[in-house]
Amino acid sequence: MRPKYVVGNWKQNGSLAGNQALLKAVLAGVAAAPGRHCAVCVPFPYLDQAESLLKGSAIAWGCQDVSRFDKGAYTGDVSGGMVAEFGARYAIVGHSERRTVFGDTDAIVVEKFAAAKRSGLTPIFCVGETLAERESGVMEKVLAAQVDSLLEKHGAASLEGAVLAYEPVWAIGTGRTATAAQANEAQAFIRQRIAAKDAGVAKGLAILYGGSVKGSNAAELFAMPDVDGGLIGGASLVAEDFVAIWRAAGAAR
Ligand code: PGA
Repeated sequence: MRPKYVVGNWKQNGSLAGNQALLKAVLAGVAAAPGRHCAVCVPFPYLDQAESLLKGSAIAWGCQDVSRFDKGAYTGDVSGGMVAEFGARYAIVGHSERRTVFGDTDAIVVEKFAAAKRSGLTPIFCVGETLAERESGVMEKVLAAQVDSLLEKHGAASLEGAVLAYEPVWAIGTGRTATAAQANEAQAFIRQRIAAKDAGVAKGLAILYGGSVKGSNAAELFAMPDVDGGLIGGASLVAEDFVAIWRAAGAAR
């Protein structure tokens, strides 16, 4: 059985004082548990704070994006190596907000994926379709193109030890969660696509669902065979909601 992941994506939210209160409250509700992984992906300036508050706990930490370059004249970028110096484990790449607001193309996302791996970080590779794409019947085509961009450039073996997140764009921050069946259908499709290249990698790969996961819907989502946990936005900013999702991941095992 694959482990379950509960990963918070704070996005561009937080403050030193607010983070401290949030993390202390989350720490009180999250203890190490076999087969379950918990993490928070914080804005870059808070990696140091995350390290000092979370070191030695059951909660890992990470960032929400990473430069595709290792170092040099790239004003404003932050490399995976810099992030790793703060004890971070994860780097989200290809989040739909990076793709749509900041213009990250499939080609850029797969470069970021590789850069995260070079730095020893675990990439969380995000894919997902828009509502218009789903409604016009091209969901599978869109997901296949996003996954194939990685498979073609770096091969299925590059996903070994990585994490994938299926985040339908229409469900992110909208309160409109995919049904458990919709999430599982898309995630089974993604897993099959990878299995066609490498069945072993596909079988072991953690595929998370993201998009309006809450304490009230997490258990049903996480009980699905191809849903290996969640990438949590809004609810990761409220300790009791995030802890409720963590508990749901335990119940789903
Ligand atoms: P949400 O965000 O849980 O607020 O929908 C999820 C995400 O964007 O990762």
